[in-house]
Amino acid sequence: MTTDNAPARYAVIGNPVAHSLSPRIHSRFAEATGQRLRYDKLTAPASGFAAAAEGFFASGGAGLNVTLPFKLDAWRWVNAHDQAALEAGAVNTIVPQQAGAGGARTSRPSMRGCNTDGVGLVRDLEANRGWSLAGTRTLVLGAGGAVQGVLGPLKRSGVAALTVANRTRAKAEQLAQRFGVAACGLPEVGDGWDIVVNGTSAGIAGKAALVAPETIAGSRCYDMFYALDAPTPFCRWAAEHGASAVSDGLGMLVEQAAEAFFLWRGVHPNTAAVLRELRGIGPK
Ligand code: ATR
Repeated sequence: MTTDNAPARYAVIGNPVAHSLSPRIHSRFAEATGQRLRYDKLTAPASGFAAAAEGFFASGGAGLNVTLPFKLDAWRWVNAHDQAALEAGAVNTIVPQQAGAGGARTSRPSMRGCNTDGVGLVRDLEANRGWSLAGTRTLVLGAGGAVQGVLGPLKRSGVAALTVANRTRAKAEQLAQRFGVAACGLPEVGDGWDIVVNGTSAGIAGKAALVAPETIAGSRCYDMFYALDAPTPFCRWAAEHGASAVSDGLGMLVEQAAEAFFLWRGVHPNTAAVLRELRGIGPK
């Protein structure tokens, strides 16, 4: 158990989690806001999310971030969801709830599952990049978990048109029906987009050319993935094929962390200095 004057303990749980930047980001937020906390990495075996989360909170843990492959396990494990987690079908932040006043103390407080990924994306696009979404024609590539996590906040940002395009068209159509957006297959996306967001995992295998170059010519292109040592394959490809601006998703990582920090600590950390510091980690 933690003692009264021990710092509050947080962690990111995933597998693999060794390269996570979250401990560094949250430590910087804590320093900058004068909050006393400790933030660790927690590796769990593929089928071991529930046991690891139970153990963490039973030993006094104050909050968890959840990364791959456990966002769905976390969604099932918590007792309640915020709107973003309900929409996303995934949880990336767990906030233990205070026991009700005068209520019986149970060994496990109620756990609220939240999702800060979509807010993180919209804040990075609008506040950090200055790419206002209002009135834009925005195209999202991919229809997996990453995309499902951001469609709600994107839709509410005031876009004039939002289309999901996916290699497997049926998956795009399912999301389109759920979120009230348009859908198509990758070959049919057309052109004239203001903003194109890559949410596919194709870049992990080095694949960047998901659509015809005309699709992104003149568009602002955003990759939800990031790399510290070099541009992501999608960013490089977009820059070489006429995108008017490109960005990877490092700012989204920092902004989703800032929102989680707020949910836990009630304080909004400033993100600019942390983002600058992380950009400085890789080769110039
Ligand atoms: P995540 O949770 O990271 O989104 P996922 O649910 O496996 O992962 O989804 C991966 C997404 O990347 C899907 O939209 C996938 O397209 P399919 O639904 O057709 O599988 C997309 N994707 C992965 N590799 C791709 C590639 N080489 N070309 C185009 N799309 C790709």
